[in-house]
Amino acid sequence: MLNLRKLSSLGLLVSLLGLLALAGCRQDMHDQPRFKPLAMSDFYPDMRSARPPVEGTVARGQLHEDTYFYTGKVGDNPGDYMPFPVTKDVLERGQQRFNIYCSPCHSRLGDGNGIIVQRGFRAPPSYHTDRLRKAPLGYFFEVMTFGYGAMPEYAPQIPARDRWCIVAYIRALQLSQAAASGDVPAGQAVPSESPQFRGDPGSGATLPQIAAPSQGEESK
Ligand code: HEC
Repeated sequence: MLNLRKLSSLGLLVSLLGLLALAGCRQDMHDQPRFKPLAMSDFYPDMRSARPPVEGTVARGQLHEDTYFYTGKVGDNPGDYMPFPVTKDVLERGQQRFNIYCSPCHSRLGDGNGIIVQRGFRAPPSYHTDRLRKAPLGYFFEVMTFGYGAMPEYAPQIPARDRWCIVAYIRALQLSQAAASGDVPAGQAVPSESPQFRGDPGSGATLPQIAAPSQGEESK
């Protein structure tokens, strides 16, 4: 009995001493040995502390396997199809993004007479020329993605899907400016009635509120 008690107090003493010793040479986690980013190290033959990623490493979310979706190209040439179906939502998203990012130069009509051009920036060509009316869809995607002449690239600001929405909207703009009377649904007056605005007709930054056509007009 006595021996045992002696033993256990000895054990306590030893572990207390151990704790003391540990506390004496404690190393804080925030102060552990480490390399600052890009610091030199003579541990590796190339003297770099950071290891280059394994060859062929792709960062998460950056595989971009669908090359048409990310470049608009089929081989070396722009393709002429949308990578996803065009719905009303897609066109509305395209209209909104176009009015934000492109209309300052290209104008909301796409005639190249935006407010920045009116203040002296180089005038872009109108979208309503034969050349750009015939340009394949992938071409517009490419211009936005990589820039064109004086026009900067828009890939860093506009994600790929939104760029495609803008492509769809530009094609709709082109159709709208080159429509023939045959394109108008049966029963609709040509030229159509100009829209009636509710309140504020919209500035460069806001869209106009278009009033629903009155009952009388609809039954015409
Ligand atoms: C800062 C002004 C500016 C903005 C914003 C801008 N562009 Fe342009 N864009 C230009 C200019 C200038 C040109 C003509 C460039 C040249 O010929 O050097 C051009 C040319 C183009 C062309 C015609 C290329 C050709 O073959 O002639 C397309 C298509 C186009 N832009 C699409 C867009 C789209 C889509 C957006 C919005 C995402 C956009 N641009 C935003 C200034 C702008």
